[in-house]
Amino acid sequence: MLLLDDEGLSTNHYLIVFSNLVQLFAQVEQEMVSLLPTQSNMPLTRAPQNNVERVQYYNDLEIEADPTLPTDPGAEWPSKGQLSFEDVQLRYRPDLPLVLKGLTFDINPGEKVGIIGRTGAGKSSIAQALFRTVELCGGRIVIDGRDLRGIGLDTVSYGRLETIDRLLK
Ligand SMILES: Nc1ncnc2c1ncn2[C@@H]1O[C@H](COP(=O)(O)OP(=O)(O)O)[C@@H](O)[C@H]1O
Ligand SMILES: [Mg+2]
Repeated sequence: MLLLDDEGLSTNHYLIVFSNLVQLFAQVEQEMVSLLPTQSNMPLTRAPQNNVERVQYYNDLEIEADPTLPTDPGAEWPSKGQLSFEDVQLRYRPDLPLVLKGLTFDINPGEKVGIIGRTGAGKSSIAQALFRTVELCGGRIVIDGRDLRGIGLDTVSYGRLETIDRLLK
């Protein structure tokens, strides 16, 4: 903000304002340059570097599924807790290999199941698939007869399924 009193600004003040303006323009120009087409040798997965680039990056992101759908199950779902993974495939990005490579198992109501495996085996990815933080690229997950893919994202992710945080590592 620029405050002026009755006597206006001294030459010194003008210089300070001018130098601040130059600095500001240089900054804006630097941000805009990143909008120019990237060089061919730049990695495609490069993270956004500044605000303008970040806005463009978010603008290009795939829109996630509807939070709720008219066909969503009522509050009684899931009542039994029958869980089936059917040939589930998951990858974190289209250019990355499958992390879950056709995973199939059933967990019956009331059963308690532990998943063990070395670091990087895919244990956390099973939870990501279950809460649809990452969408499947193949197969399906069914809970009490409902394919999770056909249910609103918020209905799946909030309120109906719970985690006990310290157990998810
Ligand atoms: N956000 C992610 N982006 C890309 N790859 C990931 C991401 N999270 C996990 N991975 C990869 O997925 C594989 C499985 O990881 P993860 O499910 O975390 O295994 P675990 O929980 O069994 O240690 C690993 O190869 C890991 O590098
Ligand atoms: Mg993990």
